[in-house]
Amino acid sequence: MICLTTTETTLTSALKQVERNKPYIDMVELRLDLLEEGELVSAQIFPRLCALPTIATFRRVCDGGKSLLSDKVRMTKLHDIVLQGDFSYVDIEEDVKKSDLKIKGEEDSPRLDFEAELKLKGIKIIRSFHDMEKVPANLFSLITKQAKKGDIPKIAVTPNTIVDVVTLFRINEELKDIKEKIIIGMGDYGVCTRILYKRVGSMLSFASEDEIAPGQLSAKSLKLLYRADQVNSRTNVYGIIGNPVLHTSSPKIHNPGFDAIHYNAIYVPFLVDKVRTFFKLAELIKIHGFSVTVPHKRDVLPYLGKITREVQQIGACNTVTRIQGMWKGTNTDYYGFLAPIEKFINDGEIKSALIIGAGGAARAVVWALKNHHVKVTIANRTLSKAKLLASETMSNYIELENIKSLEATTDLIVQTTIVGMSPNEDADLLENFEFAKSCYVYDLVYKPEYTKLLKRAQEKGCNIVNGSAMLLEQGKLQFEAFSGYHYPHWVKINL
Ligand code: ATR
Repeated sequence: MICLTTTETTLTSALKQVERNKPYIDMVELRLDLLEEGELVSAQIFPRLCALPTIATFRRVCDGGKSLLSDKVRMTKLHDIVLQGDFSYVDIEEDVKKSDLKIKGEEDSPRLDFEAELKLKGIKIIRSFHDMEKVPANLFSLITKQAKKGDIPKIAVTPNTIVDVVTLFRINEELKDIKEKIIIGMGDYGVCTRILYKRVGSMLSFASEDEIAPGQLSAKSLKLLYRADQVNSRTNVYGIIGNPVLHTSSPKIHNPGFDAIHYNAIYVPFLVDKVRTFFKLAELIKIHGFSVTVPHKRDVLPYLGKITREVQQIGACNTVTRIQGMWKGTNTDYYGFLAPIEKFINDGEIKSALIIGAGGAARAVVWALKNHHVKVTIANRTLSKAKLLASETMSNYIELENIKSLEATTDLIVQTTIVGMSPNEDADLLENFEFAKSCYVYDLVYKPEYTKLLKRAQEKGCNIVNGSAMLLEQGKLQFEAFSGYHYPHWVKINL
């Protein structure tokens, strides 16, 4: 189930928020602590009006909420709202004292047992535990303890490493007898657990309306982009590893592709600090294949049983697939880069190239061009790196300040550095370089779609290729490696 957490301060706006998200959600968590004080008197009508199973949650500040009330007052308010309405669940923190759950009734009447009243009304209690800083060591015993009481255990904890993520995925295996439980990994490392909530063994995943920061999941993207609620025991899991990784556009290529060919598979971003541990996770949850991005393209090499010639040459791998129990590494950056210009190389229009940069991306570019008999010159801010790559690939190198001397003789210019990338869109490493009209200018930067450099080249009448062309091509080749199918041409990709 996908559960929308309301973020509004009035019941009317919270209801509107639910309406906007209805196509994507199965249930709602009404956050009473976010509502204005005056709204609480009418909060009991909310479940009936929104017509979805609703959790009543009155979250304290220490657990990430807004309520500063004492537990006694808070529980009394929660009691009065929940028992008058049609809530399906109520969230009570696991450390709320028994005495605070004995609610004072009318004058002279005995104290009411909140938990007993809830049970009588058939409202399920979610017993929640929050750790905003870490994954605690006693995680499994915490879950077991709450489940024994007959309540639904909820743990919302903060993984800080991929080891913590492995711990969360182990819950499903270790505690599979506890059918109803809620597990949430908060923060950037937790994103994969919230998408693959079913694989963690959680009965639901919480989502908000908007993705305010990278890594936050909206109900819409959980439902439409990831189809997280469709994951079952036969779903093949794919992903991308990197650090950072949550800004990546790759899920927008692979997930719609899988959907279009009716392949029961999901593609998830994994923030990874240690590649070694990720391979353990990959075994634990049987990941079928994954993309690799900065800074792990070289780090994965020791774990691969088989690599292609390009990976060997470039010394970097961006695609890993599981083949007959072995991890195989390929490099689709190499072919992705070539795809938009290969025809012009084969036609003899591109015979010489100037490559700006000598980092990881430049390595794939230089090797691809050299293997296609293009004469390459490398220019880089740090000359020694250009020199090294040139000697390895039998290319030429030149100082960045001297590239003007190649203006008339270069058929292709490839910009491989991050200069010009959003938010520094005004930067242009080739500011003083005059393009020949017939030349090709290729910028690997894909945000913005057209960099200052490309716009300038276009104005001169050059042929331009942008980074999204390469991103799409390398992604489509990965898709083939993952699924065995060509990328469905009818899918419109919105990066
Ligand atoms: P990638 O794998 O994306 O290529 P990388 O291996 O870190 O990333 O390489 C970054 C490239 O961009 C390098 O060539 C780097 O130049 P240096 O070798 O001198 O570091 C280049 N680069 C990054 N920022 C730059 C800047 N502000 N000006 C010029 N070159 C820059």
